[in-house]
Amino acid sequence: MCGIIGIVGQQPVADRLVDGLKRMEYRGYDSSGLCVVDGGELQRRRAEGKLGNLVEVLKADPVDGTIGIAHTRWATHGAPTANNAHPHATAQVALVHNGIIENFKELREELRRDGRTFESETDSEVVAHLVSRLVENGASPQDAVADVLPRLRGAFSLAIAFRDHPEMLIGARLGSPLVVGYGEGEMFLGSDALALAPLTQRISYLEEGDWVVITREGAQIFDAENKEATREIVASGASAAAVEKGNYRHFMQKEIFEQPTVVAQTLGSYLRQADNSVALPQLDFDISEIRRLTIVACGTSYYAGMVAKYWFEHFARVPVDIDVASEFRYREPVLEDGGLALFISQSGETADTLAALRHCKANGQVIGVVVNVPTSTMAREADLLLPTHAGPEIGVASTKAFTCQLAVLAALAAHMAVKKGLMNREEEQSVVSHLLETPACLNAALDHDDDIASMAHLIAPARDVLYLGRGQDYPLAMEGALKLKEISYIHAEGYASGEMKHGPIALIDDEVPVVVIAPSGPLFEKTVSNMEEVRARGGKIVLISDAEGLEEAGEGCMATIEMPKVHPLIAPLVYAIPVQLLAYHVAVVKGTDVDQPRNLAKSVTVE
Ligand code: AGP
Repeated sequence: MCGIIGIVGQQPVADRLVDGLKRMEYRGYDSSGLCVVDGGELQRRRAEGKLGNLVEVLKADPVDGTIGIAHTRWATHGAPTANNAHPHATAQVALVHNGIIENFKELREELRRDGRTFESETDSEVVAHLVSRLVENGASPQDAVADVLPRLRGAFSLAIAFRDHPEMLIGARLGSPLVVGYGEGEMFLGSDALALAPLTQRISYLEEGDWVVITREGAQIFDAENKEATREIVASGASAAAVEKGNYRHFMQKEIFEQPTVVAQTLGSYLRQADNSVALPQLDFDISEIRRLTIVACGTSYYAGMVAKYWFEHFARVPVDIDVASEFRYREPVLEDGGLALFISQSGETADTLAALRHCKANGQVIGVVVNVPTSTMAREADLLLPTHAGPEIGVASTKAFTCQLAVLAALAAHMAVKKGLMNREEEQSVVSHLLETPACLNAALDHDDDIASMAHLIAPARDVLYLGRGQDYPLAMEGALKLKEISYIHAEGYASGEMKHGPIALIDDEVPVVVIAPSGPLFEKTVSNMEEVRARGGKIVLISDAEGLEEAGEGCMATIEMPKVHPLIAPLVYAIPVQLLAYHVAVVKGTDVDQPRNLAKSVTVE
C-alpha cells in the first residue's frame, strides 16, 4: 500500500505535503517524493528510503509551488530506488499512484512503439505517459484522463498534476481508496482521512470508478461513465493531532499497551454489562438461519478467524470454512445460498480479502465485515458491519486490532448461539462475564513486560524458532511466529503441538527455541508430552502458561512466562500479549525497525 496526497493551495504546499506523507508513512516507506507546479514547470523532488531523506533533499533544493502532489511508496514494480519513486513525470504531467496496473507491459510497449522512453521500471510511469501523450496532442486534462482510465486494468488511486494547468489536480480511484478534502479556498486529495486531518475535516469518499477535478473553487466529480456525480461531504472525525508515540519507544509498544483500553471499548460496543448480555447491532437478516459460515482474511486477521472457528463451532454449532484470502476464490469454494461470509481486516483495504468479499457477494452470501477502519472499502461493501474500536493502528505489525477482532468475534459467536437457541440465559451471562474480565487479564499479562524483555536475548540469536499451541491456542502459535518473523526477521513457524512429531521435530536441537503456548486445562497433559519430546532432543523450551501449568511443567524450561489463570474462552486474547511482547523485545535487541519492518506495508492493497 502507498500513500498519496495532493493540495491545490493558496500558499506554498511542500511542507504540508510532507506532513501528509508523515501521517501515511505506515502505509509504505521504501521511498517518497513530491512534485509542485511552479513558474510553468513541474518541480519534482524524490528520495530513496525513509521520509527523512526527502526532507533533506528539500532542504538542499526547496520548491515553492502552491499546487502539488506527493507519495510514500511500498514497491510493487521496480526496486525501492529514487528513480522508481513517485511522482512519475513527463515534461507536462506528473502522477502519483497507489495500487497496481496489471496491463502495464502492453501499454508500455504501445508507448515505446510511439517513441516514448521510460526512466523507471514502474507500472505507474506508464499512466503518466498515456495522459501526457494526449495532453501533448492538445487534449484537455479532463479529456485525457477520461480517455486513459478505461484502458487501465488492476487497482489504482491516482493524483495527477499538469504543468500548463496550475489551477487543478485530477484524482481517480478504482480499487484503492481516494478521499477529496474541502478547505477554505483550497482543495485536497488523500489516500485516507488521516492524511488530510490537519487540513480539513470535510471530506468525500470517491466511489469505484470515480474521478475528480479539484480547483481552489471546489471539486467536480465524475463517475465511471464520465457523468457528473455528487458524493456526500462528511465530517471525517480523523484526529488532526499528529499520531504520536507518547511515552513509548515505538507505535507497536504503545499499541500493545493500549489493548486493555481498546478491548474494553470494543467489548462495550457489543456487550451489555447491566445484565451480562450480548448486544449486537440490529441485523437485517436472521442469523439463526445461517447454516454455514465462511471466514476469509490474511495474516494476523486470518489467525483471529482461526480462533473464531473454534468459538462458532463450539457455541453456535455452525460449520466454519476458513481460508486465506489469496487462496479462497481460486479453489472454487462451495458456497451455500444464504450463507454468512465473514471478512476480517484491520485496514479494510487488503486486496486479497476485498476480492474474496466481492466473490462471495456475487455468489449470494451475506457479507459480514470485522474491520478497524469503518470508512474503508470493505466496511462500505458490507451487509453487516462489525467495527473494532482499536483506534488507528500505526505499527505495521498488528497487535491491538487482533485482540479487538477476537472480542468482536466472540460476541458474534455468542449472539449466534443465543439466536439459535443453543445458549440459554445463564450460559450467555457466564460467557459475557468472562469476556468482560478480559481487560483486567490483559493488564495482568502486561505486568510481565520486564520479564519478557529480560528473556529476549535468549531468542534473538536464533536462526529458527518454533511456536506450539493446541486447540484455540494453535492460531496463537501461528500469530506468535508471524509477529517474530515480521519484525525481527528470525524465521519462525507456528505448529499445532500434536503435529510437531510429524516432521518439524527434525528441526529440534539446542539451537532452536520452542515457544509453547499452553494454559492449564484439559489439553495441557498432551502438550506436556510434546514438551518432553522436545526436551528429549535437547530442545530449549519457553513455556507460556499460568501458575498451575508452570508448577507442573515449568521445571527445566529455558524460560517461563506466567499468565493469569483465565477462562479458556478468553485465553487467546490474553496469551496474545506475551507473544506480542516477546517479538517486540527480540526485535529491539536485534535493532530492527519495529514499526516499519523491511519489505512490509501496513495494508497490502495489491493481490
Ligand atoms: C500482521 O501483523 C501483518 N501486518 C499482516 O499479516 C496483516 O495482518 C495482513 O496483511 C492483513 O491486513 P488487514 O488486517 O489490514 O487485512
